[in-house]
Amino acid sequence: MNQSRMTKELKSELYQTIYKRQSVRKYEQAKLSQDQLQDIEDFLNKAELLDPEIKFETKIVDSEAVKSLIPIKAPHYLQFFSEAKGDYLLNAGFVLQQLDLYLSKNDLGSCWFGMAKPKKEIIAESDLEYVITLVFGNSKAENHRDSIEDFDRKSLSEIKKGETHYDLLEAVRLAPSATNGQPWYFISEKDQIHLYQVEPNFIKKFFYEKMNKIDMGIALAHLWLAADHQQQDFKVEKLSESPAEVEGYNYLTTVKL
Ligand SMILES: Cc1cc2nc3c(=O)[nH]c(=O)nc-3n(C[C@H](O)[C@H](O)[C@H](O)COP(=O)(O)O)c2cc1C
Repeated sequence: MNQSRMTKELKSELYQTIYKRQSVRKYEQAKLSQDQLQDIEDFLNKAELLDPEIKFETKIVDSEAVKSLIPIKAPHYLQFFSEAKGDYLLNAGFVLQQLDLYLSKNDLGSCWFGMAKPKKEIIAESDLEYVITLVFGNSKAENHRDSIEDFDRKSLSEIKKGETHYDLLEAVRLAPSATNGQPWYFISEKDQIHLYQVEPNFIKKFFYEKMNKIDMGIALAHLWLAADHQQQDFKVEKLSESPAEVEGYNYLTTVKL
């Protein structure tokens, strides 16, 4: 990966936050200060990118600019727009998960919000494709977990094959995903980890195809932070052929360590 634009300390703090973050759905309605909002914009400017060639922009808006059948009432909604090329959904998940961790580290609440859509006028303002929303603000509820046992997640043995890189995959196992679907599977080898994404059934395909790609980007963000913590390389490189068949999953890409 390129020379990171974040300090070592900041990456390490984001890594530690993996083990305690949780989604927050109840917010104080007071807005954050201009300084806090600027700090969030500044953080996004130094977030690591999976593909620097993919243009993206973010808008922080209030609830009037958001449509949703099942609302989350928050003071701020960050809408992520991207050029629709290459692995842009992976990139969106990768970038915004760094922000999710950053907010949690700063004792703010946040939650991915796949059910939301920007109002038509907002979509029309951008040349880029709307991808996803992340809500945030001061939390009314607890925004950290006390221990790993408080995470409702599959066990490592359900999501991986191979005996290597336990610590890296533990960090990935705890990643958030749409409806907590955890659509990932890993084949772990000596110097590389192959990532697989669940094949959604016909009914789920419409909604989950996009969400699951974002989820995989989130998983990659946790993997990157964990690899960085162990001073391992992190290079995402899709092999020309699937390294192995995994029933119910499709090969997505490989991380070389
Ligand atoms: C791509 C994505 C979309 C999500 N969309 C919603 C949503 O629309 N509404 C909601 O309440 N939570 C949403 N979530 C939050 C997940 O339900 C939550 O991350 C998951 O249940 C795991 O819980 P945790 O984040 O507290 O660890 C979404 C998460 C992701 C990653």
